[in-house]
Amino acid sequence: MREDLAELQRKAEAELNSAGSEEELLAIRTKYLGRKGLLTLLFRKIGNAAPDERPLLGRLSNEIKEALSVKIENALEKLAPQGKYGALLQEKIDVTLPGRGVRHGRIHPISQVSQEICEVFLRLGFSVAKGPEVELDYYNFEALNIPKDHPARDMQDTFYVEDNIVLRTHTSPVQIRIMEKQRPPVRIVSPGKVYRHDSDVSHTPMFHQIEGLWVDKGITFSDLKGVLTYFLQQVFGEDTVLRFRPSFFPFTEPSAEIDIQCIICGGTGCRVCGQSGWLEILGAGMVDPEVFKTVGYDPEEISGFAFGLGVERIAMLKYSISDIRLFYENDRRFLEQF
Ligand code: DAH
Repeated sequence: MREDLAELQRKAEAELNSAGSEEELLAIRTKYLGRKGLLTLLFRKIGNAAPDERPLLGRLSNEIKEALSVKIENALEKLAPQGKYGALLQEKIDVTLPGRGVRHGRIHPISQVSQEICEVFLRLGFSVAKGPEVELDYYNFEALNIPKDHPARDMQDTFYVEDNIVLRTHTSPVQIRIMEKQRPPVRIVSPGKVYRHDSDVSHTPMFHQIEGLWVDKGITFSDLKGVLTYFLQQVFGEDTVLRFRPSFFPFTEPSAEIDIQCIICGGTGCRVCGQSGWLEILGAGMVDPEVFKTVGYDPEEISGFAFGLGVERIAMLKYSISDIRLFYENDRRFLEQF
């Protein structure tokens, strides 16, 4: 056995000495030292040798293995930088180089404000409802008491997908979808994207609204005032001064628009409030009996209020942003401030 080992070493060394390429060296390594290599096979046979010979044979084969490995390694290194293996050996990684860092995404300011608004209503027992952005004319207009020839359709520059299908122009259709499915009481807010053919410093063709609806027995206009006052003071501060102004929406009667005293000038008049001292924030009103009839609610039995607001407008006021388009340019320098 000792002879066999010596013989093997001699042969391997002879082959190594005449090897001239990386491939040859690697082949020799496999031939002798590989998992099924000649030395490995001999090594396994040590178990058959006489017990007192085994330790010596073990040591000898390990020494041969070590010697051959080193020789092969050195030879490979000498062939660098020609070969692939040599190139790998020469490649060094500088572990002291500063890392590239992971860039974190963050929640878009519009999503942040939308979530913040919804949270105020969740605290008041509202839940969040969603509806489709591609909407039937029926839900977007008809069921909200806006028939085909109604002038209120002109207030909203509608994108039509087909004759009876639109990109929803407001989140109000979610009211109808929820009331169709659910008996009172209903207490929901519905955030989402809406679409209008409009574009300037304060309008984008796609923007966000939040719709709210509270329907139950005995809901009155003072509930509307109480809830919306609480909401606006949560978002703009406890000292926010409000104004409820009569208005018109086809789906509410009576209707109101709610203004806050201009948070930029404090009411003295500036460019943002158009010198009026007031900022229009919300549309609201008591749900029109016609809408209740459409969804099969009895207007003699229940009542409710609804409201709708634009998220971009609130975000612009909250953060003093003067151009709505900044939200959608995806300039990281802008987005990273929130
Ligand atoms: N849908 C209206 C709009 O987009 C906003 C609105 C006003 C919603 C009054 C309401 C409401 O629910 O009661 O201009």
